Amino acid sequence: MTPPTILVTGGAGFVGSHFARAAAEAGRAVVVLDDLSGGPPAVLPPGVPLVVGDIGDGPALRRLCATHHVGAVAHFAGKIQVGESVAHPDVYFDVNLVRSLTLLEAIRDEGITACLFSSSAAVYGTPAAVPIPELARREPVSPYGATKLAFEFALEAWGTAFGLRWAALRYFNAAGAHPDGTLRESHQPETHLIPLAIDAALGVRPPLTIFGDDYDTPDGTCVRDYIHVTDLASAHLLALARLEQGQTLGAVNLGTGHGYSVREVIEATAQAVGRPVPHVIGPRRAGDPPRLVADPARATALLAWHPARSDLATIVEDAARSRLHGPQPSAPSQAPAPPAGP
Ligand code: UFG
Repeated sequence: MTPPTILVTGGAGFVGSHFARAAAEAGRAVVVLDDLSGGPPAVLPPGVPLVVGDIGDGPALRRLCATHHVGAVAHFAGKIQVGESVAHPDVYFDVNLVRSLTLLEAIRDEGITACLFSSSAAVYGTPAAVPIPELARREPVSPYGATKLAFEFALEAWGTAFGLRWAALRYFNAAGAHPDGTLRESHQPETHLIPLAIDAALGVRPPLTIFGDDYDTPDGTCVRDYIHVTDLASAHLLALARLEQGQTLGAVNLGTGHGYSVREVIEATAQAVGRPVPHVIGPRRAGDPPRLVADPARATALLAWHPARSDLATIVEDAARSRLHGPQPSAPSQAPAPPAGP
């Protein structure tokens, strides 16, 4: 029997587009729903339609699911900036929870049985210890993290009441880019360390500000668990296979179990770009935990998932290559000139 179509919400964005491509390459029928609020859409694979629309439009969602024979949903759509969520919690609760519940209603009404959810390490807040297992206390310190956790609770309730099989994949720091350079990380505005560091090295953005160098970490800067976006995509495919075999996975961390400091990222970026990364030391950013490192044992055990491109050098090399040779953002920076050489 032909496997059902996968609806990928937010599939024009960074992680969603990598998943849409991986799913299409695995032979799955895919339809992307995206409101394009995150910027221009990523290049989608041939045969993958992009429907521009809102996850909060229930009637349109039902029509979309019926027309495309959707049997599984991968829900990436959402607001993703921690700082913005503190200033505008109304928007975050609206999109990440209220509108996402409309999606869940459509899932129930259309008889869809499997849902992957793009969750976040932000559900843990500031962890008592690292590495962080899924059963660690979930105490989000931002509205963003609170909305991710709230939607996880909704999934759990949908599973109990309506038999939905679900996985909440808690990403640590999604990074990198497709190795062929055709898909890249480009948020508007960009707030993430690696794209900002690459642009600083290329001279198309101001020097990077290190948000604090007085943390209780080996070099004083924050430590994060960077996970390559193609490894995230492969984990989603493995998780979907389990859901479609009849399992519910619940919450699963997606990280490597290894942390890198901001300074280590800067050094790796300089190597990858072939230019130093100009930087200054600034104050700490509110809400930044000193260390966020996954315990990925559950993903290994449940999914037999082994990240293949998530060493720091490969992550920043892929990100730099896609920045130099991949699709260029329309704003705010101009296209970079290639570096003179290492
Ligand atoms: N950083 C800087 N300067 C910058 C940007 C970032 O020093 O200009 C530092 C941050 O302080 C942090 C590290 O680089 O220590 C990584 O920052 P990112 O903004 O790239 O990513 P975050 O760790 O803040 O965010 C990630 C995910 C979020 C998730 C959050 C949980 O992208 O989705 O972890 O804390 F919510």
